[in-house]
Amino acid sequence: MAWQADPELVKRLTQEHKKYGAIYDEKLVPKYKLPDALTCLDGTKVVDKETWIRKRRPEILELFRTHMYGRKPAETLGCFRYEISDIEKNALEGIAIRKQVRIFFTEKQAPFMDLLVYLPKDADKPVPVFLLLHFYGNHTITDEKAIPIKKEWDRGKGVQYLPGEETRASHSKTIPVKKILSRGYGVATAYYCDIVPDIGIKCFNYGIFKAFDHIFGEHKPSDAWGAISAWAFGLTRIMDYFETDENIDSKKVAVLGHSRLGKTALWAGAQDDRFAIVISNNSGCGGAALSRRKFGETVKIINELAPHWFCENFKKYNDKEDKLAFDQHMLISLIAPRPVYVASADQDLWADPMGEFLSAKNAEVVYNLFGLDGLPADEIPDLNSPVMGTIGYHIREGDHALTEYDWDCYINFCDKHFRKKG
Ligand code: GCU
Repeated sequence: MAWQADPELVKRLTQEHKKYGAIYDEKLVPKYKLPDALTCLDGTKVVDKETWIRKRRPEILELFRTHMYGRKPAETLGCFRYEISDIEKNALEGIAIRKQVRIFFTEKQAPFMDLLVYLPKDADKPVPVFLLLHFYGNHTITDEKAIPIKKEWDRGKGVQYLPGEETRASHSKTIPVKKILSRGYGVATAYYCDIVPDIGIKCFNYGIFKAFDHIFGEHKPSDAWGAISAWAFGLTRIMDYFETDENIDSKKVAVLGHSRLGKTALWAGAQDDRFAIVISNNSGCGGAALSRRKFGETVKIINELAPHWFCENFKKYNDKEDKLAFDQHMLISLIAPRPVYVASADQDLWADPMGEFLSAKNAEVVYNLFGLDGLPADEIPDLNSPVMGTIGYHIREGDHALTEYDWDCYINFCDKHFRKKG
């Protein structure tokens, strides 16, 4: 049976989000036509993977850069430097190797991000790794005292504060480290605000924006990067580090993220094909969900709530989704032929579960060009019934969150793809 939104929830959210004019009723979704992933801007039809790789894929990437996520200032962003501050070979009561790595973005001592890595101790070869940015400091993941508590940003107030000792391990459920290790995977995470703080347009004065945006000169272009692009850039720097770490199999890195960080993981995975698997957890509008459905959060709503996430050009599409030369199925298609997984939650109608499913499904045509299956489901599956082809999808019961259930599915999906060739 195909999932359907709970009518009571639809009623309640329609009422609660009246101020945004958000649509929660399938019957109110406007008629729309998705742009064809396989028709180039000059009308050429893509019928083979070569034309996709050479012509259409770069074209789509450029469209997303120019009109949505924005572009980083210059290729000179290549400076890469890191320092390992901690290696503990008997972490987590002897089951893990823990590493803490400071990754610098320039030759200067700031800005930097602090990466926390846990790897299974008993591995006899480099291990596959899950990489995700996180909403809070690294000390919130486990109770290990060797992880320093650093200042964090209060998103609402736009100020920094020092969290107390009681916040140690407070987000351990979001990243079940021991479970991940027991399945033979490592996991690495960093606090996203180390890259740029998530504090509205004031963020442009901090982090890597502060370090690099002067390259734009006096007038920042309307396609200059927003925070999602900056966070995605942080993920690629972490990948640079992975390539130097002999305990990590950098050819088997699954990048994932929840919500705004799910949007970030998709954009990072679309641009950087070193990420072997890409996973979007409840990424919603600006992530996996189709913009043209205008269901739940819309382009206009997101640009108003988070004016710093996308480039200025994206604001031109407020209430004008039909004018976009792409939709989010094309973001997912950029990940082909690499496996991609999209996950929704039934209470999270703001993120438009149906739009997330349809987007994953409509990316399938590009996977087919590579002789691969796509998403083996003709309609959205029932609750808690994951479907796993080269594209995976599930909708689980519950709220907007990254849960243990989600992790179980992601680990199974990675087993399916990473372990098949031994
Ligand atoms: C808000 C925002 C979403 C985003 C979410 C999150 O709800 O509107 O677009 O995904 O925050 O990041 O938790």
